[in-house]
Amino acid sequence: MHRPPVLHVAALLLLTGFSLTEAVEIKVHDNNNKTCIYAILSVNFTVVYEGNGTMENTTFTLPNSLSSNGSVCGDNKSAPLLKMNFGPGHSLSLNFSHSAGIFRGDVLTFTYNTSDTNLFPGAKNTSVKQVAVDSLMEAAPLNTVYTCRSAKAIASKEVIMVFYDVGLQALVENGTISKNESICKADMSTTMGPLTTWTASTMAPTKPPPPPIPSVGNYTLKNGSETCLLANMGLQLNLTYVEDNQTRLINIDSNSTASGYCGDQDATLVLEDMKTTIIFHFIVEQSKFFLKEVKANISLVVNGSTISLYINNSSLKYWQTSIGSSYMCHKEQRLRVTDQMVINTFNVWIQPFELKSGTFSRAEECSLDDDSILIPIIVGAALAVLIVIVVIAYVIGRRKSYAGYQTL
Ligand SMILES: *[C@@H]1O[C@H](CO)[C@@H](O)[C@H](O)[C@H]1NC(C)=O
Ligand SMILES: *[C@@H]1O[C@H](CO)[C@@H](O)[C@H](O)[C@H]1NC(C)=O
Ligand SMILES: *[C@@H]1O[C@H](CO)[C@@H](O)[C@H](O)[C@H]1NC(C)=O
Ligand SMILES: *[C@@H]1O[C@H](CO)[C@@H](O)[C@H](O)[C@H]1NC(C)=O
Ligand SMILES: *[C@@H]1O[C@H](CO)[C@@H](O)[C@H](O)[C@H]1NC(C)=O
Ligand SMILES: *[C@@H]1O[C@H](CO)[C@@H](O)[C@H](O)[C@H]1NC(C)=O
Ligand SMILES: *[C@@H]1O[C@H](CO)[C@@H](O)[C@H](O)[C@H]1NC(C)=O
Ligand SMILES: *[C@@H]1O[C@H](CO)[C@@H](O)[C@H](O)[C@H]1NC(C)=O
Ligand SMILES: *[C@@H]1O[C@H](CO)[C@@H](O)[C@H](O)[C@H]1NC(C)=O
Ligand SMILES: *[C@@H]1O[C@H](CO)[C@@H](O)[C@H](O)[C@H]1NC(C)=O
Ligand SMILES: *[C@@H]1O[C@H](CO)[C@@H](O)[C@H](O)[C@H]1NC(C)=O
Ligand SMILES: *[C@@H]1O[C@H](CO)[C@@H](O)[C@H](O)[C@H]1NC(C)=O
Repeated sequence: MHRPPVLHVAALLLLTGFSLTEAVEIKVHDNNNKTCIYAILSVNFTVVYEGNGTMENTTFTLPNSLSSNGSVCGDNKSAPLLKMNFGPGHSLSLNFSHSAGIFRGDVLTFTYNTSDTNLFPGAKNTSVKQVAVDSLMEAAPLNTVYTCRSAKAIASKEVIMVFYDVGLQALVENGTISKNESICKADMSTTMGPLTTWTASTMAPTKPPPPPIPSVGNYTLKNGSETCLLANMGLQLNLTYVEDNQTRLINIDSNSTASGYCGDQDATLVLEDMKTTIIFHFIVEQSKFFLKEVKANISLVVNGSTISLYINNSSLKYWQTSIGSSYMCHKEQRLRVTDQMVINTFNVWIQPFELKSGTFSRAEECSLDDDSILIPIIVGAALAVLIVIVVIAYVIGRRKSYAGYQTL
């Protein structure tokens, strides 16, 4: 099968496969009332904020009722800007750069108003906050709609945004939204890659052989120029898809891109490969850190159609380690996230907080690993006890013989 690398002529229906009930559609008009920016997208937000003495979190989706006030069509001099305003003072905006026949997303800015008691009940320091991150979209040729149905997670400070079912066109010509799609890299691999393997497995009665042990990925996050999080680990997902009740093992590519956020009290690591986005959220509590939350978004092909599996558990407590140390576990661990997903981990070495000069600190090893050390310790202890017994026996023996002399 052959597919041109970027440009894809859309089928009869523009942007098929979008969950239109959830997706938000926006058209920005120019002075002549012609569409100049077109966007369709779904966004799930998770925001952590300060409540009454505790950190709270809130999740919501980009609502359907929003205004595009403040958007700019853009021309040769000014950059196009898509601004989506919702609620009392919240907005999501993306400006575009363009040159030499292409356009691309530049800076994505999310502004939120914690005074809004609907989204941020009980917020303490109410204020308008802003997070800005680079690039939501890859470069696409002008006069095409950039589409990305796969989920893409963007984590920054207190905010995690998951974008999916995205279609974007800036600098729309003549007010006519293009019928040509530029498909993002993630979508190309999900529709092309697993199709053959999974359809083969559903047709053949024998199960596919299990994938090999995943190779260890070395993931790094930086805060400016300083390394602030290190994670070396091999990851394998064991998924149980309820509808067909089959378990599937998926290895996370060790070349996954790592992004995220480092804070004093919490840190987020986002790993993305072609099929999977997985988010690890670490927090600090009582001078220990641990893995508190895992979110995953996985594209699976079941009976020939791609489905998106969304998995989330925010009350985990794995890899508990004293702050200032790193966590290490060579043995395979099976971390249950939900009934649908278990993460099998291999050769974990991780430190999300308090790195000194960008390297791992002293490691606290998992109890599984301790087995190998435990045996010599037990043998050693037994020997020590034996020696003590011998010494005591000797002393008692000497005393007895001493006493014996005295009675003489
Ligand atoms: C712009 O066009 C839409 C239909 O495409 C129309 O409903 C609307 O009234 C027009 N607005 C102006 C200001 O001309
Ligand atoms: C987004 O949130 C909705 C409802 O909360 C959920 O059904 C959906 O699976 C989520 N999707 C992603 C990609 O996070
Ligand atoms: C904050 O919590 C304290 C004790 O936990 C309580 O006395 C106080 O009323 C709370 N304040 C608000 C505004 O809920
Ligand atoms: C998010 O909120 C839920 C319910 O309020 C809580 O159980 C969970 O621990 C919170 N997660 C984080 C990372 O704070
Ligand atoms: C958009 O902004 C203009 C002035 O800047 C204002 O009059 C109008 O009410 C705003 N529209 C919305 C939907 O907020
Ligand atoms: C933008 O530049 C192109 C050529 O580079 C030109 O044809 C077009 O008229 C310019 N548009 C504006 C609004 O200046
Ligand atoms: C933030 O929300 C509060 C309460 O809804 C509102 O009074 C205030 O005007 C909002 N701030 C901005 C900048 O919109
Ligand atoms: C997009 O906005 C950011 C900040 O708001 C600015 O730094 C950047 O230069 C803008 N990009 C373009 C292409 O104008
Ligand atoms: C826009 O209109 C011009 C002139 O009518 C035409 O040459 C051009 O092909 C049109 N572009 C698109 C994308 O329809
Ligand atoms: C990853 O880090 C380990 C040490 O933890 C090292 O042995 C290995 O060579 C590194 N792998 C790569 C690809 O850099
Ligand atoms: C995957 O999960 C299933 C069901 O929970 C279990 O029976 C199986 O042993 C697991 N396999 C691996 C390799 O983790
Ligand atoms: C990771 O990328 C490197 C270089 O880009 C390549 O040599 C290697 O084969 C890749 N590994 C995997 C598992 O894709």
